[in-house]
Order: sequence, then structure tokens, then C-alpha cells
Amino acid sequence: MLESIAGSIDVCAALVSSCSKIFKLKYKLKKQELMCSSILGSNGMAQSRIIVNDDYEHPDNIEYILESVLMPSEDSLDFIQLKNEYNSLILHQCQCDKGDCSRCSHGGAYEYCPKGKELIQRQSKESCSIPILECNSLCDCRLDFCTNRLVQYGPRENLEVFNSATFKSKGVRTKVNIPCGAFICEYAGEILTISEAKRRLVNNKELECMNYVLVLNEYTKTDDCREEKRQVTIVDPSRRGNIGRYINHSCEPNCQIAAVRIDCPIPKICIFAARNIHAHEELCFHYGGEDQQVDQASDSKTCLCTADSCAGFMPNSAII
Ligand SMILES: C[S@@+](CC[C@H](N)C(=O)[O-])C[C@H]1O[C@@H](n2cnc3c(N)ncnc32)[C@H](O)[C@@H]1O
Ligand SMILES: [Zn+2]
Ligand SMILES: [Zn+2]
Ligand SMILES: [Zn+2]
Repeated sequence: MLESIAGSIDVCAALVSSCSKIFKLKYKLKKQELMCSSILGSNGMAQSRIIVNDDYEHPDNIEYILESVLMPSEDSLDFIQLKNEYNSLILHQCQCDKGDCSRCSHGGAYEYCPKGKELIQRQSKESCSIPILECNSLCDCRLDFCTNRLVQYGPRENLEVFNSATFKSKGVRTKVNIPCGAFICEYAGEILTISEAKRRLVNNKELECMNYVLVLNEYTKTDDCREEKRQVTIVDPSRRGNIGRYINHSCEPNCQIAAVRIDCPIPKICIFAARNIHAHEELCFHYGGEDQQVDQASDSKTCLCTADSCAGFMPNSAII
């Protein structure tokens, strides 16, 4: 059977009118150069740095990556634009040298879980549609106080890839309970141009391969609300990815997606618990974004999620 597009998620519709002010890009400075200047002190000694905690590995012969990476180089204008964006930095740093960043110009997206010391996504109706901007190495805040860094420390522990009887393929489940709002993992893979994504989708259909391409659409409004701008982020973990590549689609999911930025203007597609999740439950999110009207296409793939409200087919949205 032909595979459907893994999904298209529409987040942050109209909620980020100030977005264009937040992201001041400095295109000439390479990410690598800045990483060096912030990691090395004036004496050239290494300073404290964040270690991404990710000990997972793939059961398949796939390259494991800790975060999304740029697709292989190609000679096209849209690749050059994507590469420039990938190598850009968000220069909006906070100045909280004493506070916990819960109210700083970046913060507010996370709070402590009432039952423990763990940071979770702040619970609100819009939590999955508000883009998150974490503090980064440019910020003045202290790592041990800052409550606005979660995704950058890597995926949750105690997840496992298993053979899901429901989905008749691999899936991810949790060995322990997970509180609502907890960060699960990034959906990490290769960041694609639109044209490369279209090529891969055609290829997947022709070869009848499982499809992993995920499309995130973000909408921002200009200050006068007249114009709506769309930012498309496309991630494909079919060749390179992390544990997120094994998370299946459900029409009644226990997880949801949010766009998270740390220092790069291209967002990370991040998966958070949408409710309290019990140990041994399989983790799923809605590939089309739950609020979206999902239309059945002639080549839509049958959905195996078994939820009461199952649409019967998987989201199959076009990229444009
Ligand atoms: C991101 S991968 C998920 C991991 C995949 N099950 C595996 O074994 O690697 C997406 C693919 O999994 C399958 N899949 C995910 N959710 C599904 C569902 N609800 N019904 C049927 N197939 C599903 C489809 O083949 C889809 O293209
Ligand atoms: Zn701060
Ligand atoms: Zn901070
Ligand atoms: Zn379903």
C-alpha cells in the first residue's frame, strides 16, 4: 500500500504577531563560530556547556542524530536560503542574571509540575500553538536558575522502541508514568527544502516505502494584522533521526507538537505529553494537528489507531 505524507501541522495561527521582532538574524555569523566564542573562556579553557542527554539508539541501520540537521548540500537557491537560515542565530538574549526566567523576555512557556520538580510545558488552551523560545548561550541567565531550558537537554528517559501490534510496525512507549506537559523528544531528522521534500514524497510513493516527512506550518501576522506570513519547516527522519521517528499517528493522541527555538530561527518540532500518560502506554501524536480539518485523499493510508473517533485514514496534506 502507498504511504501517506506523515503530516502537516499548523501551529501558532495568528498568535505570534510580535514574531518578526523577536528574530533578529545575523546572517554573517556562523553558528559554529558563535558556539566557539561562548564555550571557550578568555583563557581558552572550556566553560560549562550543556550536554545533550540522549543514550537512545536505532534498532535499524539509520544514523542516530541528537537534533535536526540540514539536508545534504545541493546547488539550488532554496537550499542556499535554507542553509543561511540554518546557520543564523537568534540574537535576542535575556538579561536575567538573578531571576529564574519565568517572566523574562524569552520565558513563560514552562512551569514546574505541581507533583514534582520537573519542568513541563505551561498548561493553557493555546500551549501547542504558541511557539517557544528557550534561553541559550547568549543569555545572561544562570543555567542552574533558568527555568526556560528544557528541550536543549535532550529527550525524556525511559522511552523504548517496540513492535506495536496496533500499528503493525515500530512505535515508542514509555516504561514509567509521564505527567501532562512533559517534554518527550524532538522529532529530529533532516531539514528539507520544499522541492527536496516533494522529491522524497514522490520517491516514497513509487517505492512504497514508509514515509517520515513531517511538515510544520507556522503563521505570523504583521502588526496591522493585514498580512499573514507562513514559515514552513520540513523534517525527514527517514535516513537520519532520533527516537522521535518511531512515534505513530493517532486520531486521539496522548502527545502534541510545539515549535521550539533555542538559537536557530528554524524551529525544532517538539513532542510534549498532552495528558498524563501511564507506564507502558504507546506514545502518539496527531500528524495533521488536531484542530485541522483532515480531508481524505484518493491515496490516503488507512489509519490503524483504533481510537473511537478515528477518521479512518491518515492525514494526507499537501506541502503547499
Ligand atoms: C514517523 S513513522 C512512525 C514509525 C513507524 N511505525 C516505523 O515502524 O518506523 C510514520 C509511518 O508509520 C506508519 N504509521 C504511523 N501511524 C500510523 C497509523 N495511525 N496508521 C497506520 N500507519 C501508521 C505509516 O507508515 C507512517 O508513514
Ligand atoms: Zn531570562
Ligand atoms: Zn534563562
Ligand atoms: Zn485514527
